[in-house]
Amino acid sequence: MLYIGIDLGTSAVKLLLMEEGGKVLKTVSRDYPCAYPHPGWSEQDPALWYENTVEGLKELLKETDRSEVAGIGIAGQMHGLVLLDNNDNVLRPAILWNDGRSSKENDHLNDSIGREQISKYTGNISFTGFTASKLLWVKNNEPAVFSRIKRIMLPKDYLAYRLTGISVTDYSDASGMLLLDVKNRRWSPEMLDICSVKEDMLPHLHESYEVIGTLAKEAAEELDLKVSVKVVAGAGDNAASAVGTGTVGDGKCNLSLGTSGTLFISSKKFLMDKHNALHAFAHADGHYHLMGCILSAAACNKWWMDDILRTKDYAAEQQGIGEELLGNNRVFFLPYLMGERSPHNDPKARAAFIGMSMDTQREYMTAAVLEGVAFALRDCMEIARSLGLDIERSTIVGGGAKSPLWKKMIANIMDISLDVPENEEGPSLGAAMLSAVGCGAYKDVNEAAEHIVKVRETLEPQKELVKRYDEKYHIWREYYPALKDI
Ligand code: XUL
Repeated sequence: MLYIGIDLGTSAVKLLLMEEGGKVLKTVSRDYPCAYPHPGWSEQDPALWYENTVEGLKELLKETDRSEVAGIGIAGQMHGLVLLDNNDNVLRPAILWNDGRSSKENDHLNDSIGREQISKYTGNISFTGFTASKLLWVKNNEPAVFSRIKRIMLPKDYLAYRLTGISVTDYSDASGMLLLDVKNRRWSPEMLDICSVKEDMLPHLHESYEVIGTLAKEAAEELDLKVSVKVVAGAGDNAASAVGTGTVGDGKCNLSLGTSGTLFISSKKFLMDKHNALHAFAHADGHYHLMGCILSAAACNKWWMDDILRTKDYAAEQQGIGEELLGNNRVFFLPYLMGERSPHNDPKARAAFIGMSMDTQREYMTAAVLEGVAFALRDCMEIARSLGLDIERSTIVGGGAKSPLWKKMIANIMDISLDVPENEEGPSLGAAMLSAVGCGAYKDVNEAAEHIVKVRETLEPQKELVKRYDEKYHIWREYYPALKDI
């Protein structure tokens, strides 16, 4: 039997075809743009997601015996607000996870309603990227749109709706809406009230590996697949990535270097720190996780390479960064190109280069970008460590993890062993694994991970480098508070 995993990302949809035993047969990726209509805003047209997914699936399945396809799992960028009217028309472009427009509404939730209350209802506090404050933004700024809302969806659930005709979500992705009582795995009546939302506008809730239905007739015909192909509820991209790297059960860690950067720690129990500095979300394995999310990770390098240095040869730019520069760079970079989520919760934060002098070379600035992202991830790790979580090793995935230099910086800046999985596809592999579980190929997510996930190489931190980078981190972390007020 064959399983398809779809990762509906921010810059591309990535599709993967997996055999029952976990062997990845083929991957396909299709890029699409993101619109930034105002500084700090970030939107996408959901039609792009569907069109690119369908075209990508056709390419993925070329030369494949399509009757062998048993299941589909979808992972996707979290928190995005997709609004449909009575006729299933999209009411406005989706407002994405890295959109900072809702700072007023965010402050209303955290300050007027109060962090304590919000945290009591959901297990989390509000961040501008979370869905609830964006819903309130639409209510306050686009009342005509708000009054026509029939369905509220997350990006991957919109895709599943177009493929199956069924409106559902899963607990991991729903956790990021700030409408879910995460611990008890149910919509929070208080939050629905605060956001003027009725429960029937929201999708039904499922565990990620549960089958929600089969392909709709039209989709099956278009893709030349059987209508009996099962679709599972899927997961938010980070939870799916965790599944794809075996970060399931208790106390395991995964780092993701995608457009965003995340630190993900799995937990069998519902955990929450009292300042809600890390997100307390449901996991796709049926349990929970803690997560820190930095809004611009690989996005910083992409911006620096594509938009500023105007090159596509990322590896060539990194070649000039010699061993002697590691831990000795006097140029620093704050990676807040889209504001910051964890740990600052500051949509108005902005990126900065600091410390250049007449002898600063292009390589120092490139290294500073990579290091700045790693320092920001360390900020999240410091919070996890302050909770008493003893993280000594982690897996790493995502586009940025293709760079050996960046991985080395991360292992040393965070002082952890980094396991690089054989398959770095993260979310799409996790999504395919969830569909295999849903179709009965594995007893549960844990068993699927034990069978499928393998480590290709491990990077160990080097004592001297750890020490040098630790000093640099302590300098770097002074810059954001120093610049914040101006
Ligand atoms: C997680 C988050 C991002 C997106 C990126 O909270 O906002 O990682 O899921 O796709």
